Amino acid sequence: MKTLQVMLAERSYDILIQTGILKVCGEYIKKVCKPEKILVVTDTTVESLYKETILAALSKENWEVKVVSFSPGEGSKTLDSVSVLYREAFSFGMTRTDLVVALGGGVIGDLTGFFAATLFRGVSFVQIPTTLLAQVDSSVGGKTGVNVPEGKNLVGSFYQPKLVLIDPDTLKTLPDRDFYDGMAEVIKYGCICKKDLFEQLSLCRGRDELTDDLTEILYHCCDAKRKLVEEDELDTGSRMLLNFGHTMGHVIEKTFGFEGYTHGQGVAIGMMLAAKFGEMNGMTVGGTTERIEKILKQYQLPTKVDLPDQWEDTLLLDKKMQHGRINFIMLKNIGTAVVQSMETNELILAMKKIMK
Ligand code: NAD
Ligand code: GLY
Repeated sequence: MKTLQVMLAERSYDILIQTGILKVCGEYIKKVCKPEKILVVTDTTVESLYKETILAALSKENWEVKVVSFSPGEGSKTLDSVSVLYREAFSFGMTRTDLVVALGGGVIGDLTGFFAATLFRGVSFVQIPTTLLAQVDSSVGGKTGVNVPEGKNLVGSFYQPKLVLIDPDTLKTLPDRDFYDGMAEVIKYGCICKKDLFEQLSLCRGRDELTDDLTEILYHCCDAKRKLVEEDELDTGSRMLLNFGHTMGHVIEKTFGFEGYTHGQGVAIGMMLAAKFGEMNGMTVGGTTERIEKILKQYQLPTKVDLPDQWEDTLLLDKKMQHGRINFIMLKNIGTAVVQSMETNELILAMKKIMK
């Protein structure tokens, strides 16, 4: 078993990574809380794959368990779903000492975390992430929330889980598209702070060759996130490094109406653009873009995009922009990133030049 501790004073918690841990999750849950009732939140795809496993694991303890599932996908990350969860929790007779478990990808993790943060002003919750993205990113760090018509993730809170249980076996059922989507975030960790991971990934040619090293890779990614979350829980400093590739990535996702490109595909292209920009202004070591391009292609991720003109308006609406300036993440080299504050107009001009 690989274990990490996220040290955040009274909000500290463990991340446990072990194949098959889902089958014995109750043993670890009972060490961090003493509920009578557990509400498991999931989506219908994950329910059909893992409901019996989690129910069998939880039935070994004396807990009353209820499973609530939503349609898969971003469309379920809404305040309406949170309301559904409140109704389910009240009709189940939950109290403040009971537990909520998120079993699924980032959509379920974010939605469930926000629900747990607000039910009775906060009940314990445990993350059991089942996508690569959720296992390396969204289940750790306590960012929870939902989408509203005005934009993605605009309503939420920082609310840390009591425990994160990662079962790499669950990735066996994940479709390639979702797996490679998550690989963009794995490659991102290599770029910003894990040079050895970048080099390890460069030596493999795709999903099949990664299988034996998956637990180790998940560990290194969670360790990178743990460190940044400990340094800057509320995302006002070094945690922003996690946004490498994300500013232009969001522009790409949003410009194509969240249908043309997945999040990981947007981030992949965003990392290319940020590296090119860095090389252009001398911040980034020459040859970095080429190395990133090569690795992205190995993991079936795109490296360029033809953006229609309205992309600039999308960037200007970025929620991270303040008074015409934006914190843009740039690389010095593979393994070292910096937060660079710049005029948004400067960024737009540079991106136009690069994409010409
Ligand atoms: P997702 O939760 O929609 O899952 C993707 C798909 O995989 C879904 O169709 C789901 O049913 C399916 N799936 C999940 N586990 C599976 C398994 N083991 N086998 C087969 N299918 C499985 O998407 P995601 O990419 O995991 O997460 C995206 C969300 O995460 C976004 O809403 C994003 O905003 C959020 N996010 C949050 C943070 C954070 O720090 N909180 C960080 C990054 C992303
Ligand atoms: N996914 C970025 C963060 O947690 O800060």
